[in-house]
Amino acid sequence: MKFSLSYFAIPAALFTLSACSDNPAIPSSAKSSDNSQSATQVPDFWPVLDIAIKTDAGVEKQVAELLAKMTIEQKVAQTIQPEIRDITVEDMRQYGFGSFLNGGGAFPDNNKHATPQDWIAVAQAMYLASVDDSLDGSKIPTMWGTDAVHGHNNVIGATLFPHNIGLGAMHNPALIKEIAKATAAEVMATGIDWVFAPTVATVQDDRWGRTYESYSEDPAIIRQYSQAIVEGLQGDPQSGYFKDDNVISTVKHFVGDGGTVKGDDQGDNLSTEQQLFELHAQGYVGGLSAGAQVVMASFNSWHGEKLHGHQYLLTDVLKKRMGFDGFVVGDWNGHGQVLGCSNESCPQAMNAGLDVYMVATPAWKPLYENTLAQVKSGEIPLARLDDAVTRILRVKVRAGLFTKPAPSERKYANLNNVIGNDAHRAVARQAVRESLVLLKNNGQLLPLKATQAFLLAGDGADNIGKQSGGWTITWQGTGNNNDDFLGGHSIYDGIKSRVEAAGGSIELAVNGEYQQKPDVAIVVFGEEPYAEGNGDIDNLEYQRGNKTDLALLRKLSAQGIPTVAIFLSGRPLWVNPELNASDAFIAAWLPGSEGQGVADVILADDSGKAEFDFIGRLPFSWPTTPTQTPLNFYDADYQPLFKLGYGLSYNSHAELSNELSEVVEKTEQNIQTKVLFERSAITPLYVAINEDNQTLRMNSNSLMTPNIKVRTTDRTVQEDALQITWLTDQVSKFSLQSDFPDDLRSSLEANSSLQFDIKLNSLSEPQIELLIECGDACNGRVVLKEQLENQQSSWQTMSIDLGCFAQQGVDFSKIYSPFALTANKDTQIELSNIRLVANSADVATIQCAAN
Ligand code: BGC
Ligand code: BGC
Repeated sequence: MKFSLSYFAIPAALFTLSACSDNPAIPSSAKSSDNSQSATQVPDFWPVLDIAIKTDAGVEKQVAELLAKMTIEQKVAQTIQPEIRDITVEDMRQYGFGSFLNGGGAFPDNNKHATPQDWIAVAQAMYLASVDDSLDGSKIPTMWGTDAVHGHNNVIGATLFPHNIGLGAMHNPALIKEIAKATAAEVMATGIDWVFAPTVATVQDDRWGRTYESYSEDPAIIRQYSQAIVEGLQGDPQSGYFKDDNVISTVKHFVGDGGTVKGDDQGDNLSTEQQLFELHAQGYVGGLSAGAQVVMASFNSWHGEKLHGHQYLLTDVLKKRMGFDGFVVGDWNGHGQVLGCSNESCPQAMNAGLDVYMVATPAWKPLYENTLAQVKSGEIPLARLDDAVTRILRVKVRAGLFTKPAPSERKYANLNNVIGNDAHRAVARQAVRESLVLLKNNGQLLPLKATQAFLLAGDGADNIGKQSGGWTITWQGTGNNNDDFLGGHSIYDGIKSRVEAAGGSIELAVNGEYQQKPDVAIVVFGEEPYAEGNGDIDNLEYQRGNKTDLALLRKLSAQGIPTVAIFLSGRPLWVNPELNASDAFIAAWLPGSEGQGVADVILADDSGKAEFDFIGRLPFSWPTTPTQTPLNFYDADYQPLFKLGYGLSYNSHAELSNELSEVVEKTEQNIQTKVLFERSAITPLYVAINEDNQTLRMNSNSLMTPNIKVRTTDRTVQEDALQITWLTDQVSKFSLQSDFPDDLRSSLEANSSLQFDIKLNSLSEPQIELLIECGDACNGRVVLKEQLENQQSSWQTMSIDLGCFAQQGVDFSKIYSPFALTANKDTQIELSNIRLVANSADVATIQCAAN
């Protein structure tokens, strides 16, 4: 099947996609991570790229001379990237790390309101410590990397552009380049050298929490945008590369992050190798050809093998075949997820081709020491370390880090009025206008004459945090209020100023309770901010089980008020009821700080004409049902509600039915059994002990504190069960948990029970409870004692109706631990096969019939 999107004006018939036809098995070479394997066969469809930044003899000579003088300690330090919350300036002086980062929501001195000068002070201190050779003998400048993923989003007052999904709707690569340039300037105004963008994931299953970081489900757009953003950040053939206006760019996350099964964050991608290239690697074709100097390895696996340890993909494909000569940085402790590795030690990753370990957390120190020892022992060949350091130094030389003055003396550090300046905000506002997709405009309700009486309702109306989504000041984008967005504008702000100037009136009432009956109501609502796995959901229904926004829309339309819905979301969601309840409906995505872009398009002058039309078109297919996942334009049976590329303009007079199906299919057939533990915890769950507000994670076959001990034990095969022993009077907790909440509402709705096999070896203290947890102080519990006492020392299967926990208020949309046990003193049990089984609540051992 061919990609042929006529309206997108992309050269037709780019390549052939084998997604729904042949499925050649993964070549065994592709799965091998065996170092001894020499000449690996890389299929011809992986191209040799024509890379804009060429090998330069002078650069290579300088790098070789630097390398020749370095000690092994100095070299290893180049490969370690710690995070600002876990190192001091003195650590930098002592070790001379090649780079460091601030994670999402990490600020100078942990101060969210840090000024640009505070940021520059950190950059300056770290830089000076890195070039101070008094302790480590090295003068190599460090570099600072940050997640400027929709503008310089960690910094108060920065211009926040629409998230990538909205940019994908614009189809305007020239504007992407302007956005990248503005972002680079704001980043440099804080003394930072390097950004971890663009994300070039081609998202296939919109249940993934990172869907909004993706431009489109169409790889052709991703390829084109990736080139444009890299040129905007690093420079292009006309302007030249790495001038005063440029930062280093990272294309991420290599590779296949958008194609995991069920859209699981950090999950497994089962594409064939050709699909991996054609669907998931197009952003690398665009971005690396444009000269991107860094590639970030992905958290995901390909056929069960984590990318951070994937020698074939990192080395044979990316470096050798495609010709990438920059460096590969890891993702946040991603090396620790490679089989046999921990955050503190992972020679496998460097041997596979990882050049820089992103080792956020205090693990940086043991990782540095272990890596050093592994090079000394030959476990990591010196030649591999030298190659990694050569790549890092090459990027530093190319980017001018050896010749630039210290951060505080650089051009942008000394310009006032860079962060959030008017010119940047104008670019963002244009992007907002162009990203809006009009899905419904019955009776030509839009545009709206600004002289009317307006009601603005919905919790997104005057909420810059909500309209900006995740990766906004904080990692998750939560905990912000309008005062945190210096110079920013809510959607209400923009409408208010135009309406008042035109002599209309406007009233803001989040819950729709107006004082004066309006001529028209604009209701702004949508998803709460989230990032990464926190945004994973199990089906696409908006506000499942809690349709407060639908109620608001219906309340207004029942009073005969025409309603315009403005939907804020990081992905297409099933909103048929909300579509039916509104006269006009706009998918606004996550527009960022310049909410006035909405007013620019929807308001008209006296003659009824708007200054701007809707030009945004869907970057992702819109679902007909909540369970229509994955849904993509190349599907053999493609039946979306709105196709990829859909979107109305003011001259289209299409009417959408007000009777779209509101039937929600039962999820039972999709949800049968969800396995939580089978031989081991099923990722992302892991086994943990929670004590004194600390979580200890089991990485090997045992874990112990003075109060509790967990070890693996044999039931039918080796180590397929856990043995848990409580040792003291203190009540301690064992749990299966994950760092991100899981959405288990489908299991609840499918009348599931929590089932597990348990053997009681001793129970001297009558105190054993099973918990399901939904965050701090959010849990439900069931006492197990009686059922257990009868059955000492033999295996039994127990099951508990999930309704027992729901009755206690457990929020099944965000389960951090689906199974935890508390007990004390001399209790010992064994556990295996923990799972959620659909349609079994009414036959469970423990039931809690609703009363
Ligand atoms: C950091 C983020 C990071 C995340 C990974 C957070 O604490 O601030 O930048 O992506 O952890 O787990
Ligand atoms: C994310 C990356 C990000 C990194 C640093 C990770 O959790 O996956 O996209 O660049 O954190 O914050």
